[in-house]
Amino acid sequence: MAGRIETICSELSEARVFADVGCDHGYMAKYMLERGLCERAYISDVSAKSLKKAELLLKDEIARGRCFPVVADGMKGLPERCDLLLIAGLGGEEIVRILEEGYLPQKFLFQPMKNPEKLRAYLSAKGAKIERDDTFGTGYFYDLIKGESRGGRRYTEREILWGRDNLASPQEPFYRKLKAEKQKILSYLERDLSETSRDELKKRRDALEEVLYETENRLRDRG
Ligand SMILES: C[S@@+](CC[C@H](N)C(=O)[O-])C[C@H]1O[C@@H](n2cnc3c(N)ncnc32)[C@H](O)[C@@H]1O
Repeated sequence: MAGRIETICSELSEARVFADVGCDHGYMAKYMLERGLCERAYISDVSAKSLKKAELLLKDEIARGRCFPVVADGMKGLPERCDLLLIAGLGGEEIVRILEEGYLPQKFLFQPMKNPEKLRAYLSAKGAKIERDDTFGTGYFYDLIKGESRGGRRYTEREILWGRDNLASPQEPFYRKLKAEKQKILSYLERDLSETSRDELKKRRDALEEVLYETENRLRDRG
């Protein structure tokens, strides 16, 4: 878990107003404030119980008027616009819903726990400029998507499915994630499944094997 939070923090950039939606523990806002990376930070969570952890961690910054806790769904309770938004640990579909009901700020950093393709499709349609979009981790694998709201090009279907940087310059975590997913699909296929589920799984397996093959070759060529 520590590795995930460190990787996310290492991609946080300077901002005037930073917001961490779904902050839970509040480590990322602490990172921003301690390093003087933002003027003020909003820590927001739909659960008052989760937010309590962040409030405790950041009590001195809250007392100084640099950090503001908000209990709300998504960006709804934020009293001003942020210029850097972090949403980590929520599903891709949920992140899209939050953005649709709120807005896409100038800079963003997202770490979707699942369905990253939904988020990529949304960002691509919005014309967002993606700076980083790849998989990281050891054992558990996560997607990280960082960028700015404007100036990007449309993603291809494959980029949406797999992540732009995973295709352009694959790294070990992506390769390991593909292998783990393939194993999972193969073991599902041994079960008693409906014809529809079996066909869907086979389609996913075939697409996955194609990317796995490419990734293997690219990694081998690079040495
Ligand atoms: C898995 S934790 C992730 C915490 C932290 N962002 C991280 O990456 O380590 C998800 C947090 O998001 C909060 N959450 C879920 N849906 C939310 C929503 N729609 N708006 C705000 N917070 C939400 C949950 O209450 C929980 O505290």
